[in-house]
Amino acid sequence: MTFAPTDSFSFVLSATSGAARTGFILTPRGTIRTPAFMPVGTVATVKGLYFDQVRAAGADIVLANTYHLMLRPGAERVAKLGGLHRFMGWGGPILTDSGGFQVMSLSSLRKMSENGVTFRSHVDGTHYELTPERAVEIQGLLGSDIQMQLDECVRLPCTDEEAARAMRLSVRWAERSKRAFEAQPKGRALFGIVQGGAVPALRVESACALADMDFPGYSIGGLAVGEPQEVMLAMIETVEPHLPITKPRYLMGVGTPDDLLEAVARGIDMFDCVMPTRSGRHALAFTRLGRINLKNARHAEDPRPLDEESDCPALRDYSRAYLHHLVRCEEMLGAMLISWANIHYYQQLMAGARDAIAAGRYADYVGEVKDGWARGDI
Ligand code: GUN
Repeated sequence: MTFAPTDSFSFVLSATSGAARTGFILTPRGTIRTPAFMPVGTVATVKGLYFDQVRAAGADIVLANTYHLMLRPGAERVAKLGGLHRFMGWGGPILTDSGGFQVMSLSSLRKMSENGVTFRSHVDGTHYELTPERAVEIQGLLGSDIQMQLDECVRLPCTDEEAARAMRLSVRWAERSKRAFEAQPKGRALFGIVQGGAVPALRVESACALADMDFPGYSIGGLAVGEPQEVMLAMIETVEPHLPITKPRYLMGVGTPDDLLEAVARGIDMFDCVMPTRSGRHALAFTRLGRINLKNARHAEDPRPLDEESDCPALRDYSRAYLHHLVRCEEMLGAMLISWANIHYYQQLMAGARDAIAAGRYADYVGEVKDGWARGDI
């Protein structure tokens, strides 16, 4: 389906299959087909790939990080250079995370207050303050199409009191973020982020409070932080009925191919994760035939490609023996090829999901994909 150019942000649902949905997010920078996997370009690069490859793999949107880009090269510098799209050479939509999550995992000397978070850069120790208003301002300077409110994500396990405190702080920050976002040009969107740890009542409270604020989309945060998959899926099932049907839902930082299939089955529309590129740098390939660890010596004399039926050169044109050799020699081409193969596979998985939902056969699709992983060929 093609859409006329638009100057506003909207979501069109086109089909459902069970709770799974397929549709289109329309933005002035292009259309995002959902369910969508967004490759992570933390510091304005999807590690090891050219953006031409990212686009050709089927990605409609990429993600970048406020935290990293505010430290280096700085949001004001990116703005001076014409914004993030021009800076990195990607003309499609960009989603940016707000920085709160990365501050918690990467920086030192963090101090949380009602006003925001102060921290020291993991790069050079400089002190920074990130408030809900500054996080939105930075994302605006970058020119981000889909921006995230500043939130506090607690590590699991945590006490219910801790989860409640962080969730309610995040709701207050959602209000401040929304007010700050009003200064930005039309056509961009700000998403609220559902928090609440693994406590169903807190998740519902968070989803309802954000839904009342009428965001153009809703993120589910604080998951895939070490809890079992059942807990993550249970939290999605808890939250989903309280989010407006007509708005996109984004599950942050998730996940494995299996996590994606299961979350789509529960009504999620958008994902991001470092897994395909990080695993690519560690020699782990995700394929139609399951996971293949190219460090393993059993590939040393295997002339077969990762997937001879794929239309991606990285999967189709290089033998497992060659990839194994590159990995053993720590050649950067090994990491690049396996990252490319993984990004391509994640995009194929989502394209298959979209087609299956449109055909009303999503549950069958999940079964077929999982059979392929189980069968393997090794
Ligand atoms: N990325 C993964 N999880 C989270 C989260 O809870 N909050 C934010 N802002 N980003 C995330």
